[in-house]
Amino acid sequence: MKSRLVYMDHGATTPVRKEVFDAMIPFFQEQYGNPSSLHTPGRKVRQAVEEAREKTARALGAGAEDIYFTAGGTESNNIALRGAAKERAKPGHIITSSVEHHAVLDVCQDLEREGHWVTYLPVDQDGLVDPETVKEAITGDTFIISIMAANNEIGTLQPIREIGSVARDCGILFHTDAVQVVGQLPVDVNDLNVDFLSLAAHKFNGPKGIGALYMKKGVKVDPLYRGGSQERKLRPGTENVPGVIGLGRAVELAVSEIPGKQKKLEYLRDRLIEGLIGIGDVVLNGHPQKRLPGNVNVSFKYIEGESVLLSLDMEGIAASSGSACSSGSLEPSHVLSAIGLDHPTAHGSVRFSLGFGNSEEDIDYVLEKAPPIVERLRSMSPTYHAR
Ligand SMILES: Cc1ncc(COP(=O)(O)O)c(C=O)c1O
Repeated sequence: MKSRLVYMDHGATTPVRKEVFDAMIPFFQEQYGNPSSLHTPGRKVRQAVEEAREKTARALGAGAEDIYFTAGGTESNNIALRGAAKERAKPGHIITSSVEHHAVLDVCQDLEREGHWVTYLPVDQDGLVDPETVKEAITGDTFIISIMAANNEIGTLQPIREIGSVARDCGILFHTDAVQVVGQLPVDVNDLNVDFLSLAAHKFNGPKGIGALYMKKGVKVDPLYRGGSQERKLRPGTENVPGVIGLGRAVELAVSEIPGKQKKLEYLRDRLIEGLIGIGDVVLNGHPQKRLPGNVNVSFKYIEGESVLLSLDMEGIAASSGSACSSGSLEPSHVLSAIGLDHPTAHGSVRFSLGFGNSEEDIDYVLEKAPPIVERLRSMSPTYHAR
């Protein structure tokens, strides 16, 4: 009998859809021309790359000339933040939040070592950044604000439009890491008042190692790499053509399906949250309403999230642990600390991230398997017996 797999880690990555895979295949062996070549095979591939750029732009309400293909979310974030910093003649001030992905936080810390200074804004208990705190943090030296559109761990959606208006009113560049949002919820770069937006194809059933940066017309950054003139010199190097084609097809499909998918995922998400909370001594992390359609992050009190995760894995359920101890340290994740969770509660966190393909039966299966796992782990937990 084939063992069951209930994949609920779409926040980490997603499978490539058949339509996307099929679109990519010809660009490995048949259409292998270099898009910079002037001959016919090259020009054909150039045309396909530009069509993918159009599709990506359309998905964001952007112009094709504002889309730059990159190697994914991390690279897009680096190009925006480091590029904006490098463009300046002297060090300046950056505003970000304490719950960003490391692909923003670590860049900011690096920029601090280079002489820039950074404000890491706090969030409330639901993980929200208050646009007023952004306004208050702005100084005459602030040159960029970077706030993620949705948090990858707890799913909280930030008030990007409001923060964007604050940035625009003050004439400061605004970047949003929208890696978790594109393909899940509608995004319009003009409505959001953003100068930069990062996305990654593998979060919406596209291939890994390909992403894009939206950069508004007129904005200037100093490129991180030197070399060819690909991507208008912002990201030189021969394009990852199959990846670009896959990104274009994936974003087109994902965005066209948002209305139905969003409703379905929100329904499944809320059923799962309700069922898990029903176990008792289980708390929801992140905002109860303003959260990604597929994100469920809960803390099972008195037990370790990683133990729950491994037990779920033995039942064929793939989720992720919010408390993953980084490099052997016992520190819980910076996000769970930032929303004020005490260490034991943070360590009890598990993220289930739903996506394309998850069904009502998957929720039933998790809600059948999770309670006995939690009960068994609690029966061995000294803190449970001492409560
Ligand atoms: C919010 C966020 N930003 C950035 C990244 C990094 O994206 P990539 O793995 O495509 O570089 C991720 C991936 O987990 C993410 O969730």
